[in-house]
Amino acid sequence: NEAGRPGLFRARLTAGPATARFVEGKDTPILAYNGTSPGPLIEAHEGERVEITFANRIAGEQSTIHWHGMPVPAGQDGNPMDPVAAGADRVYAFDLPEGSAGSYWYHPHPHGRTAEQVYRGLAGAFIVKAKADPVPAAYGDTALVFTDLRLSADGSMPENTMIDTMNGRVGDHVLVNGQKNPKLAVAMGAKQRLRLYNATNARFLRLAFANAAMTVIGSDGGLLEAPVAADEILLSPAERVELVVAFDRPGAASLTTLAYDRGWMGPGRPADAGLTLLTVDVSDAPAEAMPPLPERLRPIAPLGTPTVSRRLVFTETMAMNPAGMEMGFLINGKAFDMARVDIVARAGDTELWEIVNQADMDHPFHLHGTQFQVVERERDGKLAKPPYLAWKDTVNVARGETVRLLTRQERPGARMYHCHILEHEQLGMMGILDVQ
Ligand code: C2O
Ligand code: CU
Ligand code: CU
Repeated sequence: NEAGRPGLFRARLTAGPATARFVEGKDTPILAYNGTSPGPLIEAHEGERVEITFANRIAGEQSTIHWHGMPVPAGQDGNPMDPVAAGADRVYAFDLPEGSAGSYWYHPHPHGRTAEQVYRGLAGAFIVKAKADPVPAAYGDTALVFTDLRLSADGSMPENTMIDTMNGRVGDHVLVNGQKNPKLAVAMGAKQRLRLYNATNARFLRLAFANAAMTVIGSDGGLLEAPVAADEILLSPAERVELVVAFDRPGAASLTTLAYDRGWMGPGRPADAGLTLLTVDVSDAPAEAMPPLPERLRPIAPLGTPTVSRRLVFTETMAMNPAGMEMGFLINGKAFDMARVDIVARAGDTELWEIVNQADMDHPFHLHGTQFQVVERERDGKLAKPPYLAWKDTVNVARGETVRLLTRQERPGARMYHCHILEHEQLGMMGILDVQ
């Protein structure tokens, strides 16, 4: 933050080529914001005005910055319709309203290039801090941004194969804040506030802590009403979760992955279980006494009775023809068209959206411009209510599943909705919502 005025958060993000060292003696060309991947952690506050100058220095490619999950005006949201040409700059400006505290992120969203720009390194965390935060400051506040990486023998990142295009690109190494299995050190009895970001293109992360106790305190769009103890969490691509983790036993505590079947097409299903993402060394020396987590975090008002309902059906089509495999990733039978408005909605209306996955893979559904509330899931004729109210902008819709959610857009303009497996978004699983 280089702002001189209180209440104004000003920064500059330059996207461009950089190199990183993942293996001894080999430089990997990457894309980076301000030279680092993930990009710089942005921390701003409710009530602030944000002005970020974006400089696109990616050779020969247009880009944008999309503020994933944030309540920004449509014209400031980095839509594919508003590209920033190679070599050009633009300023993104928006206000952070009261109640907007949450774990957001930023990444490019140019037409047809999002998947590649993100897997090459362009993504960063954007935390909006609350004016009055009920979580004790003694817990710290740490963002853990998960990305994954695939390297060729020469240290470079290979292009996507047909299997990557179909399933989404899953890398071979999961990185946390750009590092493989980084170490954290804490004192025994310490509690840590951790914000976990799935910033991978297509890897589902089913996560558990060994030797430490997890409590979920927040979702994509900020705190829950009350803490909820959890043994494991599933983070589909683009989802975030806010945790308090208690380290009550000396030794090493580690964050590891469990198996999750997200529906893999073709050969090369990546290993998902048993990866250690993060190791926490818990010292014998006890931590200073930690204040307890409050029993209530904040109220969340239910969105209430919808006046409009919509149905979005996700399908995949695969056809072999002389030119090779032709894949369609469709919503209501259509592939994305930048010149077509798919849904017209009115600002302020509460709408019920039913997302129906009739495909063979899970598809994490994401909607721009607002946070929504999941109200029901249905699979094999069985209905399930979510265990607690939460603000979300991305929700996994498992194959064969239907997710019903309530949403309300407050600001006019064009908003994207799409599968957040970025290769699927790029292949057409995206639409435009015009809010009037
Ligand atoms: Cu995180 Cu439309 O994206
Ligand atoms: Cu988004
Ligand atoms: Cu998908």
